[in-house]
Amino acid sequence: MSTPGRRILVLYHSSSGNTRRAAELVAQGAFGVEGVSVETVPADMFDPDILDRMDGIALGSPDFFSYVSGEVKCFFDRVYRDTRVDGKPFVAFGTHGGGGKVVKVLERLSTSVGLVRICPGVLVKGQPGTKDEARLRDLGRALGLRLSKGSEE
Ligand SMILES: Cc1cc2nc3c(=O)[nH]c(=O)nc-3n(C[C@H](O)[C@H](O)[C@H](O)COP(=O)(O)O)c2cc1C
Repeated sequence: MSTPGRRILVLYHSSSGNTRRAAELVAQGAFGVEGVSVETVPADMFDPDILDRMDGIALGSPDFFSYVSGEVKCFFDRVYRDTRVDGKPFVAFGTHGGGGKVVKVLERLSTSVGLVRICPGVLVKGQPGTKDEARLRDLGRALGLRLSKGSEE
């Protein structure tokens, strides 16, 4: 039995639309889990008050110079030492142009601020294709299921 009202924040940055599409797919996967609600927020619109209504987070960034975008880095700078992220589950996703490392960077930064990875992230080259769509939906669903089932433990 799931407990209603588990909330997922999908926080992402996108300059040309690839990561925005990935974020939509992750959100769709999470939203499909019973009792889970999803809020999708561009990183430059992030307000720390959102953390009060978040049980888990999916973080997405384009690979910019083998790193996260500046907007996503600002999120990490702002939540460092914020106890509201401590111990919360996360998943990471990213898009790149070729040879991207952004998911590993996202995962390292996320664990540095106290978030807990629940499964390996998803890295997509360019705009998500059909196979990527399934992987991204599965990623969101995995986070939703973790929250839904975690509340039973
Ligand atoms: C300023 C800039 C730097 C980039 N640096 C890299 C890079 O180091 N490695 C890589 O694989 N792709 C790089 N890219 C390509 C983007 O990661 C890729 O196009 C991505 O899908 C863009 O996501 P978006 O459409 O969500 O903005 C770079 C793109 C830009 C604009």
